[in-house]
This record gives sequence, C-alpha cells and structure tokens, in this order.
Amino acid sequence: MTTSLRALSLRALVLGAAAGGGLPQWNCGCDNCNAARAPAGDIKPQTQSSLAVSANGDQWAILNTSPDIRQQLSAHQVLYPKKVRHTPISSVLLTNGDIDHIAGLLILREKQPFTVFATETILDVISANPIFNALDRILVTFTSVQLDQSFELVSGVQATLFAVPGKVPLFMEGETVDTQLEGEQTVGVRLAGAGKTMFYIPGCAAITTRLADMLTGADCVFFDGTVYENDEMQATGTGTKTGARMGHMAMNGEHGSMAAFVPLNVERKIYVHINNTNPVWNPASAEHATIRSAGWEIAQDGLEVTL
Ligand code: MLT
Ligand code: MN
Ligand code: ZN
Repeated sequence: MTTSLRALSLRALVLGAAAGGGLPQWNCGCDNCNAARAPAGDIKPQTQSSLAVSANGDQWAILNTSPDIRQQLSAHQVLYPKKVRHTPISSVLLTNGDIDHIAGLLILREKQPFTVFATETILDVISANPIFNALDRILVTFTSVQLDQSFELVSGVQATLFAVPGKVPLFMEGETVDTQLEGEQTVGVRLAGAGKTMFYIPGCAAITTRLADMLTGADCVFFDGTVYENDEMQATGTGTKTGARMGHMAMNGEHGSMAAFVPLNVERKIYVHINNTNPVWNPASAEHATIRSAGWEIAQDGLEVTL
C-alpha cells in the first residue's frame, strides 16, 4: 500500500468578482448590466464579492459572505457537503460590515458549526443587528481578531488583518462621514501558506505608505476594483456618489490604484469587487486594454489562483 502526502499550496477561488449589487444589478439598465443579461454576450454575469481560500483543498475559509453565497456554493464542487450535514467551510472572515460582505451569513444559518473571524468593531455590527441571532451561537463561534496579529484562518493558512483607509458601513453612516478612517472597520487580509503570501483587499480608499510597504514584492494581491474613474457613477447616470465618497479609490488617475501599484513589484495583481458600472467589464473597452497593459487581471467568478 502506498500513501501519498497531498502537497500544500495557497489556493484562492473567486466566488464573486462583482461589487455590491452584482452584475447585472437588479435595477440597473446601464450598458454593462444590459450586456450581462444577453444570453451569449461578451460580458458574463458576476456575483457579489467573496473569495474562498484553502491550503489542502479539503477545508476552506470564505472571505466575506455575500448575499449570493447560496449560488456560489452550488457552483463549486469543492464546497459541496461530503456527507449528510457537512461543509468543507471551516471559517468565515469579514473585512468590513457592508451588506455585500455580511448578508450571506444569514444563508449559512442551518445548524452548522463554523467560526466567524473579524475585528471587534465588525463583530459589533453583527451583534447590533438581532437578525444575526439566527446563527446559533452554540454552533457558530464569533472570534474577534486583533489587527496585525497572525492567526490560523483555516488549516495551513495564517491570516493577518490590517487597517486600510475606509469608512463605516453605508447603513451606519451619520451626517458626516470620514472616508479615510483607519482602524478596525475596514481591513485587508494577508494570507500566508505553503511559503507564499497573498493579499485580499476588496475595499480601500487609499494606499498609504505603510500599505505600500506591506504589499511590496507580494506573490498575489486581490485589490479593490470598484470604479475605473472616481466620477463613474455620475458619468453613467447611475448615481451621484464618487468612488472616494464610497470609500473606494479609483483604478485610474494620479491617485488611482494602477499608479500606486507601479513601484510595488507585485507578481499577480487582480482586481476584485468590481462595480457593474466599471468599463473594464467590457473586454472591448479602452479601459480594459489599459489595465491589462498595466499588468492587471480582472477577476471573474470561478477564477482560481494557486501559489
Ligand atoms: C461598498 O462596497 O461601497 C458597499 O458594498 C456599498 C453598499 O453597501 O451598498
Ligand atoms: Mn461592497
Ligand atoms: Zn449597471
């Protein structure tokens, strides 16, 4: 009899590449959303922001639980139950308290044990909303995580949360909103496993010097690709808010993510959390060509990265 050891790797599976609302968004008739509704068009529908991570392929962590999680878990065989009442998901990690990142917890309420990791501030958002009591606290363990301290997220993967500039969730905004808050309400994640490092930062209002230092030389970074231009929602007639007002830096421009990443020497740069208004969804657009020539990839649902 031979035994074989399964080689460990750092694996990330994009469950949802779109920002809140998804592509198409239910009430949007913009060019991208209309194209995504066409049966065999160039723009494929994309679900809302989520990434699955594993080192051994058997146990997985879900980074952000979107309202589309039921569909996302049905789309990937590695995430299917292996027996009556089972899940390969051992944990969930939340990077902020936005609806697109927490509402999926309600779908995961079926008497199934797993751990939810987040900062105390993000866990406070959950505890302030009694609907989340639907998750049986005897089975679902909510574990608060300190910034800048590594912990085991899932077997073989160490995670470290760090503050990135951002804001409180939309539904908690007061009269004035600080969109450059740096604390526990918006975090990025450093993932380490199998000797590799990967970053997941689906919401970020600016790349600070500290963040730039942290990302320098990384094997792979999944980064906030909400809007291409800061005023994109106004230009497409879909809204009045700028990217900056929503806590998201644009891809383009002097202060955009494309420019900020130039000196960072990151091996693979992948945009995630892409809003339905973003022209990069269209493979024939000039903006798509621009980000590709700057060395960026655009995530798609089902994209898998193995390091
Ligand atoms: C965002 O990323 O800006 C939020 O998901 C917006 C929202 O909650 O609708
Ligand atoms: Mn979002
Ligand atoms: Zn749209």
